[in-house]
Amino acid sequence: MNNVIVHDKEFKIFITRDEIRTRIMEMGIEVSNAFEERDPVFVAILNGSFMFAADMVRACKFDSELIFIKLASYEGTKSTGKMRVDLDFPYSLEGRDVIILEDIIDTGNTIKYIIDKIKEEHKPASVTMVSLLFKPDALGQKVPLDYIGFRIPNLFVVGYGLDYDGLGRTLPDIYQLVE
Ligand code: IMP
Ligand code: MG
Repeated sequence: MNNVIVHDKEFKIFITRDEIRTRIMEMGIEVSNAFEERDPVFVAILNGSFMFAADMVRACKFDSELIFIKLASYEGTKSTGKMRVDLDFPYSLEGRDVIILEDIIDTGNTIKYIIDKIKEEHKPASVTMVSLLFKPDALGQKVPLDYIGFRIPNLFVVGYGLDYDGLGRTLPDIYQLVE
């Protein structure tokens, strides 16, 4: 597959749409087996996870509620560490089994922030973390990582929902930055 240009940077193919689909099917079976009888509620974190969320909920065998919340911490290719809530929870998740859907865990700041917020403000029965990508080198927070699609090296990626300054999101495959 050809390299792509997003803004001023070049990216090369990293994880293909077929590899993504196969892995999400496996994760869907695991999550279904664990949650089928529990009536969980999915919480997808916009914008990055919209594509993953759409595929992940369809890979699960049960019908369920799906909530979108919107957080932002990234500028360009670096995490700023500051968190902004652009779209909050529409209703209380008290007593519910919550499954968070995230595109990628980098520093872990976003996920730590959201798990703390859910536990403090909603008193859920449980919180489970599902992330398509995980950068182990960058994890600066101790967070529960229940289901991980792919462990990847500490490199910047775009595609399949992930963006570089707003672009690259609509690519069906995942690409990595050519240094
Ligand atoms: P964290 O708070 O550092 O774990 O970063 C999480 C958020 O930053 C993710 O939800 C993504 O939206 C964004 N992010 C982290 N790494 C990348 C990347 O390699 N490409 C695009 N966005 C990323
Ligand atoms: Mg995200």
